[in-house]
Amino acid sequence: MPEAVTLIIKKRDGGSLQPEEMRWLVEAYTWGKVPDYQMSAFLMAAFLRGLSDAEMDALTQAMLHSGQVLDLSDIPGRKVDKHSTGGVGDKVSLILAPLVAACGVPVPMISGRGLGHTGGTLDKLESIPGLRTDLSIAAFRRQLRTCGVVMIGQTDEIAPADRKLYALRDVTGTVESIPLIAASILSKKLAEGADALVFDVKCGRGAFMQREADARRLAETLVGIAVRAGKSAVAWLTDMNVPLGRAVGNWPEVVESLRCLKGDSAGIEDVLEVTLVLAGEMLWLGGVAPTPAAGREQARQALMKGWAFERFCAMVQAQGGDVRLLEHPERRPGAEPAGDVFAPEMAQGYVADLDARAVGRLAVRLGAGRRVKEEAVDPTAGLVLHRKPGDLVAPGDVLATLYTQQRDQLETFRQELLAAYRFGATPPAPRTLLLDRYAEGRWAK
Ligand code: URA
Repeated sequence: MPEAVTLIIKKRDGGSLQPEEMRWLVEAYTWGKVPDYQMSAFLMAAFLRGLSDAEMDALTQAMLHSGQVLDLSDIPGRKVDKHSTGGVGDKVSLILAPLVAACGVPVPMISGRGLGHTGGTLDKLESIPGLRTDLSIAAFRRQLRTCGVVMIGQTDEIAPADRKLYALRDVTGTVESIPLIAASILSKKLAEGADALVFDVKCGRGAFMQREADARRLAETLVGIAVRAGKSAVAWLTDMNVPLGRAVGNWPEVVESLRCLKGDSAGIEDVLEVTLVLAGEMLWLGGVAPTPAAGREQARQALMKGWAFERFCAMVQAQGGDVRLLEHPERRPGAEPAGDVFAPEMAQGYVADLDARAVGRLAVRLGAGRRVKEEAVDPTAGLVLHRKPGDLVAPGDVLATLYTQQRDQLETFRQELLAAYRFGATPPAPRTLLLDRYAEGRWAK
């Protein structure tokens, strides 16, 4: 049995751990035989020195096998899931998962909560009154079989090593490491039993990877680990400099998703574009479309015919949510707006820019996210943007509507949002939303 200190020194000095050494370290840490202080030292050494592909694979496998690994082979069809690295206003999973299921590809999805200034799918789903995301593994399997789509949170049985390691990384300055992030994500995604994975790697101000080079490396790393683990995988690099869609916050994003699910994407064409491109990949990987482009068209048709909305309602019902609100979201109690934000005198012409990170931080302060881990989120808090980059604007126009219980701070919130906007006399250059695609070892749209 190796000694933890020997492995720490090996990594510190630029060496590579053998797979069995990595496995031993992760297992010993998970079972409390290696203390936090030694694991912290190892994580920092890994952060500074990096990990080889073999080390990343061994770390991922060790974290994966610290808990249950689902075998869904008794459920017909190729199961496909998608993972986003996190953004502001990114409600794509809510539309995508039922859409792909409605087209015949089962979607087993284990999602996370909001992290920092970014939102999380679980918090969004739980803003639907009654909806539960803490299903047992047995209920998860049952619903996947009957409904074709299920969206839950990480349970104690899924990758417990990641839970422990992530909490340690959070307080030891070792989160922003591409190999550690990739191993953490894949340990959970490989556990859920999907045959193929699509990654939406966000890039820009509102993303964890702000530089394109880092986002590309993360995409390559995620796909690389998945493929070496025997899964098919594709990654898209998508822009996250400006919030996706117009709603930011849990219930506001559900309301916007419902509009898209019902076939109305006016003003939220960016949400539709990302959703359809990812749906195309999932239908292709799931074996029901001959190419990603054909899959995109199939998904567009299904959305227009209302199949995705029907499937979303079935999923919400199966998970205990109040389906009546899906037809009439305006009836949800507690969702009254707190106030509007108006364009200032100098706003003559166009919205030139809007900082996604600043908007995400404001959403957290409005109550939509957590400043500390234990904090509860306010399901209805958030904002809806009526003016985004490229839109015409004049003084006094309503830029946004704010939703918050903290009405005494409304003026401060208004100023914070105004500081995230820039205005100009001419329209800004159009943004490229879908930056690049990575599959089979190469980048090509
Ligand atoms: N999300 C994860 O699941 N793990 C990380 O390390 C970062 C983001």
